[in-house]
Amino acid sequence: MNTSPTVHVVDSAADFAKNAADFIVSRAKAVIEKRGRFVIALAGGGTPKPVYEQLARPEVSAGIDWDKTHVFFGDERCVPPADEQSNFRMAREALLERVPLPEAHVHRMLGEVEPELAALAYEQELKRLFRCERPAIDLVLLGIGGDGHTASLFPGTAAVREQDRLVVAQYVDKMASWRVTFTPALLDQAGEVLFLVEGAGKAEVLQRILEGPYQPDVLPSQRVQLPGGRVHWMADQAAAAGLQNSPYVGRCS
Ligand code: 6PG
Repeated sequence: MNTSPTVHVVDSAADFAKNAADFIVSRAKAVIEKRGRFVIALAGGGTPKPVYEQLARPEVSAGIDWDKTHVFFGDERCVPPADEQSNFRMAREALLERVPLPEAHVHRMLGEVEPELAALAYEQELKRLFRCERPAIDLVLLGIGGDGHTASLFPGTAAVREQDRLVVAQYVDKMASWRVTFTPALLDQAGEVLFLVEGAGKAEVLQRILEGPYQPDVLPSQRVQLPGGRVHWMADQAAAAGLQNSPYVGRCS
């Protein structure tokens, strides 16, 4: 089974945001045309923010039928939604409050409630929208940390090996904080995944993830594999500098 990822390398930060936003718009159009609804899960952290801001530009966001779009989150810090650490707050300010997305179509992880309850509630919300036990989110956006984590699947944590539950609460020692996160069981159902990786600081870990030995407990990002090239990596030149033999799809201008 071909599980090779598709790697897109872009030249500059401006190109990165534009190409990533264009990728999202193209997927939204195709999925809505085919199935009448597009469900996306947003990534947290800092990398996606300029992508969301680009996506929120009127000339770009006009390409998405927001009435037929639902937004979930791949993970959340267990903080209130107004907290500066909140992934929801970042996405709300950069994108959600700037586009005509119905409020009921924003599915927030409840960072302010007890983590296990938040995880259980989120899993139920996914199953309720999809009316099935194995929801297939059309496009999941993810980032990677310097330690190889993705979403809140951190090295050495039980969440990385979760095969039954779709969403779990995980205490992260290195962050001294609780997180709620998609599990590999849910990520395995995704239509497509787009990893967003930017900056020289990610070059070493990106090379290890894409070209090093498969060790998902050490590099949880490696656990995200889908057949048919449905895992996409979008990286700027600086982040991709260490790649020697990854199957490039192309260098986006
Ligand atoms: C989070 C994210 C996390 C993030 C990486 C990269 O909640 O922090 O979900 O997985 O994507 O840590 O973060 P940066 O984009 O800030 O480098």
